[in-house]
Amino acid sequence: MNDSKKLMYAGKAKDIYEAEDDDKVIVIFRDDITAGDGEKKANFQGKGNCNSLISSKLFEVLEENGIPTHYLDLIETGSVLSKKLQMIPLEVIARNIATGSLLKRFPFEKNQKLDPPIIQMDYKNDEYHDPMLNDEITIALGIATQEDLDEIRKITLKINNILSEFLKEKGILLVDFKLEFGKDSEGNIILGDEISPDTCRYWDIKTLETLDKDSFRQGQENVMDIYEQVCAMIVDEKDIERWEI
Ligand SMILES: Nc1ncnc2c1ncn2[C@@H]1O[C@H](COP(=O)(O)OP(=O)(O)OP(=O)(O)O)[C@@H](O)[C@H]1O
Ligand SMILES: [Mg+2]
Repeated sequence: MNDSKKLMYAGKAKDIYEAEDDDKVIVIFRDDITAGDGEKKANFQGKGNCNSLISSKLFEVLEENGIPTHYLDLIETGSVLSKKLQMIPLEVIARNIATGSLLKRFPFEKNQKLDPPIIQMDYKNDEYHDPMLNDEITIALGIATQEDLDEIRKITLKINNILSEFLKEKGILLVDFKLEFGKDSEGNIILGDEISPDTCRYWDIKTLETLDKDSFRQGQENVMDIYEQVCAMIVDEKDIERWEI
């Protein structure tokens, strides 16, 4: 369907195409998966489709709860019509439980509950290996203003509450997640990119089993089974049937 459309950007897991309207883009979720700054690579058939459905559902939930997002429509499995944004090169991370890189960098106890949650901002820049920022560095680099950062923190905390509650009902513990924001043509801060097992840590609420990309980082063999399981837990059954997943 994108033969006639111009590819604007090919990232590590998604392609961004021009849409008919100038202020929109089509986000294509690919089956590629990477970890460790893109050093570990693989391709799992169906991963892109799964993530497009999961991300669309979570963006719909956020929109229903008053969060401004880029999501417009799931055109077909794997392909999402979105508002075009001028992306802010920040990885905005919210953490409810101490795990992953946080344990390598700081003396937190493994699986320590973080209440209030930690919001961490990293510079989205592979060349510099996504270093952690503080507000002064972010402002001095011209990445965002103090007002932008305050707004991004406020929205991120709200998103954490909404998604934690929604996922809890689905049997999933939201351990941590990464968001990307951008600005629309009027300068409003809008949630962009994706929310999927590639960008979140989900644990089974009963068994604390990993239900996300950590399965790939750890070299498990059932990565795709896990993604399909999460898709079935989050996405309405009628939508899974409709989109032939
Ligand atoms: N609504 C949007 N408008 C424009 N760009 C977007 C939008 N949503 C996400 N993006 C950008 O599209 C790209 C998505 O591709 P992907 O996630 O595969 O890239 P990435 O590997 O994370 O990033 P990069 O290759 O830039 O390091 C990211 O650069 C992301 O910031
Ligand atoms: Mg990305």
